[in-house]
Amino acid sequence: MDTDQAIRARRTIRDFEPRPIDRAALDRILEAGLRAPMHDPKDGRRFLVVDDGAVRAELARGFWRERTSEETAAIVDSWEVELPEQRAMFLDALPKQASMLLSAGALVIVCFRQAEPLLEAKANLHQLNAFAEVWMGLENMLVAAAAEGIFGVTKIPSTPAETTHIRQVLGIPEDYEVSCYLALGYPAAAAPTFGPELGAVDAYVFENAWGRTPPRNDSGATRRASRREAGGTPGPVT
Ligand SMILES: Cc1cc2nc3c(=O)[nH]c(=O)nc-3n(C[C@H](O)[C@H](O)[C@H](O)COP(=O)(O)O)c2cc1C
Repeated sequence: MDTDQAIRARRTIRDFEPRPIDRAALDRILEAGLRAPMHDPKDGRRFLVVDDGAVRAELARGFWRERTSEETAAIVDSWEVELPEQRAMFLDALPKQASMLLSAGALVIVCFRQAEPLLEAKANLHQLNAFAEVWMGLENMLVAAAAEGIFGVTKIPSTPAETTHIRQVLGIPEDYEVSCYLALGYPAAAAPTFGPELGAVDAYVFENAWGRTPPRNDSGATRRASRREAGGTPGPVT
C-alpha cells in the first residue's frame, strides 16, 4: 500500500476483533510516531503500552460510567451538533469510550515532557510545541497502522481528574503530560465509520489572500492546469 492509499484507508475504528497486534507490527507503528518532526532533540515523547487487562480496566474506571441510550442522546443533544452524520457518530462513539480501550489489540498511552502545566495561560503558540509534535506523531502512527490493516481511535482525557487518575495508575511523573489514549486493532466486521465527505480539495484552499479561491475550469481540471488555461492567476505571486 502506498502513502496515498494508507492516508485514504485510515478511518477511526472503535470496534475491534478480539485479536492482539503482533509486537513487531506495533513497534513499526510506534517508530512511525517517533519519526514525525520534533521541535526539540531532547524531546520527551514516551509511549506506554498497556496490555494488562486489569490495568486497562483500572484506567477505564477513571472516567467511565454506564448510561442509558436516553442519557447518551441527552448529552449529544446538549452539544447542539448540527450535522446529522456527526450526531450519528457521537451517538455511536459515546457508549464505546471504555470498550474501545478494553478491547483494543493494543492500547498505548501517549505522553510528552511538559515542565510547566499545559493548560495555564500561554504567551505564545510555541509553548504548545510538545503537544503539537505528539499529534504529528499520532497521525504518522494511524497512517502506518492503516497500511497494515490496523485501525484505531484517539481519546484525549476529558478532565484533569482523568489525567490524574492515569498518572496514578501508570506512575507517570509530574513533568510528563498525557496526550491521549491510542487504541489500535483489527476492525470488527460490522465496525461503523462516520468520517465526513470531504468533497473537492479546492473548497478548503485560498490563494494569496483569505477568501480568494483558486480558479477552476468546468471539467474540474487541476488547479495548475486551470491556471495555465486561464492565463495566470491575478495576485502578487506569479
Ligand atoms: C484530536 C482528536 C480527538 C479525538 N477524540 C476522540 C475521543 O475522545 N473519542 C472518540 O471516540 N473519538 C475521538 N476522535 C476521533 C474522531 O471522532 C474522528 O476522527 C472523526 O469522527 C472523523 O472520523 P475519521 O477519523 O474516520 O475520519 C478524536 C479525533 C481527534 C483528531
